[in-house]
Amino acid sequence: MKDKQTIIVLDFGGQYKDLIARRVRELGVYSIILSGDTTTKEILSYNPIGIITTGGPKSVYKTDSSLCDKELLQSGIPILGICYGMQMMAYVLKGTVQSAPVSEYGQTSGTVISESPLFEKVSNDLKVLMSHTDRITKIPEGFTVTACTNDCPIAAMENRDKKLYGVQFHPEVTHTLKGKTIIRNFLYNICNAKGDYNMKNYIETAIEEIRKQVGNEQVLLGLSGGVDSAVCAALISKAVPNQLVCIFVDHGFMRKNEAEEVKQAFADKSLKLIAVDASERFLKKLEGVTDPERKRKIIGAEFVEVFNDEALKLGRIKFLAQGTIYPDVIESGNGKAATIKSHHNVGGLPEKMGFSGLVEPLRGLFKDEVRKVGRELGLPAAITERQPFPGPGLAIRIIGEITKEKLDMLREADYIYRAELGKLKKKPSQYFAVLTNTRTVGVMGDERTYGYVLALRAVVTGDFMTADYAHIPQSVLARISTRITNEVHGITRIVYDITGKPPATIEWE
Ligand code: XMP
Repeated sequence: MKDKQTIIVLDFGGQYKDLIARRVRELGVYSIILSGDTTTKEILSYNPIGIITTGGPKSVYKTDSSLCDKELLQSGIPILGICYGMQMMAYVLKGTVQSAPVSEYGQTSGTVISESPLFEKVSNDLKVLMSHTDRITKIPEGFTVTACTNDCPIAAMENRDKKLYGVQFHPEVTHTLKGKTIIRNFLYNICNAKGDYNMKNYIETAIEEIRKQVGNEQVLLGLSGGVDSAVCAALISKAVPNQLVCIFVDHGFMRKNEAEEVKQAFADKSLKLIAVDASERFLKKLEGVTDPERKRKIIGAEFVEVFNDEALKLGRIKFLAQGTIYPDVIESGNGKAATIKSHHNVGGLPEKMGFSGLVEPLRGLFKDEVRKVGRELGLPAAITERQPFPGPGLAIRIIGEITKEKLDMLREADYIYRAELGKLKKKPSQYFAVLTNTRTVGVMGDERTYGYVLALRAVVTGDFMTADYAHIPQSVLARISTRITNEVHGITRIVYDITGKPPATIEWE
């Protein structure tokens, strides 16, 4: 984001780097994450208004640890060191860091012992998240200690003249009460931030950049039905109306009404939407296939083929757009070079079509920001609030062979389940139904039945890497069970999945 005040989050391997960058953005300041190895020259080339150095798993005094240059600490740019980041500041400036006699992990009480712009509007009694084995035992010259805990006499320090601040605890997590105020104080009291970053002006800038990049040329985009590609389409069609061509491959494994929702959401946008109903083609390829990995592979390959067939019919299109978002960029090693997402549905296409550029207007955004942009652009909630949905769709939520009958059954049952859970005030992070391959005996009226077992899955998670099963009220489960067994022919028994991740995964296949 050119012309925006920028905070650089310098990453030393801490698990909360994304969270720090997101907090800064939530507070109205643009932030980017750079690796802790980045040279001072490169860091300064971003002209940052401030730098936050993250935590990290290593000890600053070990030879293989990354350390920033003294030159950076003396540059006059405000720096907030967090955990390892603060220890590094102390170590580089000739303070002392040692292994602590008592490690602190978890929420701890602390005290602000000296007035500081960092702790403005924060009460003197702190509740903070600590997670460290090393600690500073001697602060560098010119610094003062501003907070302590029982086991950590130097829990925060500062050198106000040099604009250097450090906290041993993690202000970015919610377990640190008032953590957000502390970050806000750093941004607005110390870095003099203007608060010039929000989704409205992100959209304006992105539109200008798309126009500049694309000119009068056409752009091709694969719509998947997910949030990222949908928001990407809405943004590009707003920037260059009538120059965007979207291909939406309906593999037949979408949830109830989903394919229609995608088509409707774009009906009034200035773009050309090519919706391909390839459901028969996919079902045929999957006949007799039961192995989850084979299902995924076949679906992935078929997707590429259908997409490419359609794209090649269009003739030469100069630009390819994709909904790459900031976490994709971070994962691929700061993503300096734009690469085609490997899981994307356009494998093999770029060479054949000779694209001369990639359009990725969401590259700078976190998922929650993508949703915000979608709302700003008027996309319906059915799309902007969509839960994660695997590329192979319902095909990996039907255990065993996939048939049209099973798909119809699952679609109906899943729809009822999601509608009922959608009424809850506090909804799980992700919830869906799975059609098992087991049939059991039952009785309905006076008749013996032999129908399928449906499994209900609902999880609570922040990052989808680990998850707990959701505690759904019994009365809600009972209503769902009655509704599905009454309304969906062929399903006669319902079970609720009570496994976390690990040991299970969220999906069943
Ligand atoms: P698992 O089952 O691995 O799922 O615990 C973690 C999250 O990823 C989603 N998921 C996928 N998303 N393509 C995707 O885009 C896939 O093939 C895929 N498989 C799983 C899953 O729904 C959950 O949110």
